[in-house]
Amino acid sequence: MNTVSQTKAKQIRLKRDDLFKDPYGLYKRLRERGPIYKGSILKQPGWFVTGYKETAYILKDSSFFTRIPLPEATEKYSHLKQIQSKMMLYMNKEDHRKLRLLVNKGFTPKQIAGFRPLIEEVVDSLLDELIVKEEFDVVSEFAFPLTSLVIATILGVPEEDRDRFRAWAALLLQSIDFSRSHKTLEASDQLAEELSEYFSSLIAQKRAEPGDDLISMLIKENDCTENELISTFILLVIAGHETTVNLISNTIYTFLKHPEQWKMLNENPTLAGSAIEEVLRFESPTQLTARVAMKDTEVAGKHITCGEQLYLMLGAANRDPDVFDEPDEFLITRKKVPHLSFGLGAHFCLGSTLARLEAQIALSRFSKRVHTYNQTKTEIKWRPLTGFRALEKLRITVQTS
Ligand code: HEM
Repeated sequence: MNTVSQTKAKQIRLKRDDLFKDPYGLYKRLRERGPIYKGSILKQPGWFVTGYKETAYILKDSSFFTRIPLPEATEKYSHLKQIQSKMMLYMNKEDHRKLRLLVNKGFTPKQIAGFRPLIEEVVDSLLDELIVKEEFDVVSEFAFPLTSLVIATILGVPEEDRDRFRAWAALLLQSIDFSRSHKTLEASDQLAEELSEYFSSLIAQKRAEPGDDLISMLIKENDCTENELISTFILLVIAGHETTVNLISNTIYTFLKHPEQWKMLNENPTLAGSAIEEVLRFESPTQLTARVAMKDTEVAGKHITCGEQLYLMLGAANRDPDVFDEPDEFLITRKKVPHLSFGLGAHFCLGSTLARLEAQIALSRFSKRVHTYNQTKTEIKWRPLTGFRALEKLRITVQTS
């Protein structure tokens, strides 16, 4: 049954559940109305973009801006707005370019490759513990401790503070998701204030005693304001955790549902890299991003008016039949997987090399040591987010032979 509500004019208006309960069924129905189609999400009007070509075009065209996803017409949430206004994700043109170039210095391929031994060591020691237990939750006991330690090490966050990151990251992610409630925004606003104080005092400590980490490096560069630094660190805490946790968890989940592909990977471990690209395409951790048109324009024959919102459905573009053969099949031997899961253009994910490295090492080591695994009787639940594909938990039992 079609869960999407329609008006007399047959306009599609998406409710919260439509987006996370069956996203791929929804994308199919939207695609039937063309690659770009006018509707609304949670009463916010805008264009749904499901076509690959159109999504890629909008992501690359700098006349579509990113914008802080908070209601403008309210005095509320001032701490959150202040933080978000200095996040590169919501900056455009020259301001964005300047900050991005600076932060990029901490994410060069050479620097990321330097984290390989650390990631391998953490994955191995986590698996040592988990395999002995035989039953565990992939999300909280495997994916999260790994990504948490890596991003905290990159930033130079003291060990004793790292456990608090999970709750911080989860709440702040909700605050940028369309599903957010006023309660979430209020809690996030308070957290934004606490985090500003936290990073402000960490910055003071690093100024006095610099270390070999990103926070110390950016302070030394002396090209960012204190607010830009704080916003950047908070953005990296969210981005460095949530999406990569979801990529690793979605990988283990997807193989669980495709045992023949798991067998293939077990027989040929060199497929781990292409398997991760296929998971990124098939169960992308980021399903949706948004842009606003800064001038009147046209996309796929539709007139877009300046100021209109566009919802770019990355998870739909990744299954566009014009670009991918058998788009709804999970096939780890695909030769080319030009998915849009990391975005494209000026805002292309800054952490893609790191995310790929973490996920590839996690999958290779897991498949080397685990022969088969099964889901326990607990039900699979997706978190009720509209823009992200995130498992609440994934409890499995593992067999090593
Ligand atoms: C931007 C996805 C991991 C940091 C983005 C964007 C996407 C994305 C789609 C572009 C958003 C847009 O254009 O609207 C992902 C996925 C990840 C991941 C799927 C994991 C599987 C990471 C990690 C980090 C990171 C590990 C950092 C440690 C960032 C930053 C931006 C960004 C800073 C903003 C870049 C800019 O505005 O110039 N990410 N990300 N991401 N990502 Fe990631």
